[in-house]
Amino acid sequence: MPDLDLAATTPACAENGVWLACIDCGHELAPFDTPVYRCPECEGLLEARYESYPTFEGFAGRGVWRYAAALPFEQGVSLPEGDTPLHRVPRLESEMGVRSLRIKHEGMNPTGSFKDRGMTVGVRVAEELGVSRLACASTGNTSAALAAYGGRAGLETLVLLPDGKVAAGKVAQAALHGARILEVDGNFDSCLDIVSDLADRGEAYLLNSLNPFRLEGQKTIGFEILEAFRDEYDRFPDRIVLPVGNAGNTAALYKAFRELVASGALAEEEVPKLTGVQAEGAAPMVEAVEEGWDDTERWDSVETRATAIRIGNPVNAPKAIPGIRETDGTTISVSDTEITDAQRALAEEGIGVEPASAASVAGLRKLRMSGVVGSDEDVVCLTTGHLLKDPDAAAAAGSEPESVPNDTEAVLDHLDG
Ligand code: F0G
Repeated sequence: MPDLDLAATTPACAENGVWLACIDCGHELAPFDTPVYRCPECEGLLEARYESYPTFEGFAGRGVWRYAAALPFEQGVSLPEGDTPLHRVPRLESEMGVRSLRIKHEGMNPTGSFKDRGMTVGVRVAEELGVSRLACASTGNTSAALAAYGGRAGLETLVLLPDGKVAAGKVAQAALHGARILEVDGNFDSCLDIVSDLADRGEAYLLNSLNPFRLEGQKTIGFEILEAFRDEYDRFPDRIVLPVGNAGNTAALYKAFRELVASGALAEEEVPKLTGVQAEGAAPMVEAVEEGWDDTERWDSVETRATAIRIGNPVNAPKAIPGIRETDGTTISVSDTEITDAQRALAEEGIGVEPASAASVAGLRKLRMSGVVGSDEDVVCLTTGHLLKDPDAAAAAGSEPESVPNDTEAVLDHLDG
């Protein structure tokens, strides 16, 4: 596993012990001088680097900011986020036949998705930069989080959504939290192209996961899972299975593991296998991993009921693919029917998730059946968004309401009949 640069190499451009570095050419930049999303030398992706890396002993407090030792600031606009449940699912666990199965339910964040973890850090950086307008392209959840956190910070928020392809709950959140919503006649990838152009022209500060600081906040999913396992089982999970869209979480979890390895808090052989799941109709990461490519090839046409991951050009692929490879993980695609089945299975255990989230469990089920995942494994599935995000999908997957007369006897008759 590649090491990170450590304290000895702190460059002159660092501020508060933090700087940005290009993952391709290594070019280093000041982090808070001016907004920057890609390497000015080679267009490569940027990642945050620190003077020192975290140990479990260095974590204190609650939520995302408990992990301040691994973040660029001590505190930021907080609603608060993080500290999500790591559910037990006894029936699913025995059906899957693994040593243990836990569900990390990120739908329990304040706006109902993991995006809140990235947004609390991203908005803090926006404040440091002194920008006034925040923007994102979104399949829905990022727009909800941006609207809530940006609004809380008193900043203007602008979101670009693929017209007609965003679940109702998410549009409602962005609207009520006060974002200006532009519905684009195109898919998510076209929205991201446009908003990146706007950001490059200085019209707005981009808070998609192309922004390296979003991923810093999302690392805390990994820290929480590892800490919980360490406290409860005195070991770490063998595998983390997650839905993949832009591959931001995959990249963020890998970075969290590398940082713990760099500090000596985690041994290389203890790093969980990162296992990414995509919908069959939007699976460029699965293709890239299977073909042995270092980046994805853009899919111009994408379709899936899991609209959150209806993405054909995962911007973080160059960060995420090494994560999957180096951790000995894998990728798999699942059909919409398999996603809905998994959504129902989770719901039966009381865990309400949106379709994209259920992809993790659908993927695990397939990998277990094919023997790629062993019966001796401790597995964590990430569920990324809440059921209420997509009420239409939930209603379609659930039981049919029955009409009854306004009368107790008639209701009893109906129940008996
Ligand atoms: N699950 C949900 C519920 C999501 O909203 C997203 C991404 C993903 C998974 C994929 O995560 O990009 O880190 O691989 N949603 C973005 C959005 C694109 O705009 O809300 P990733």
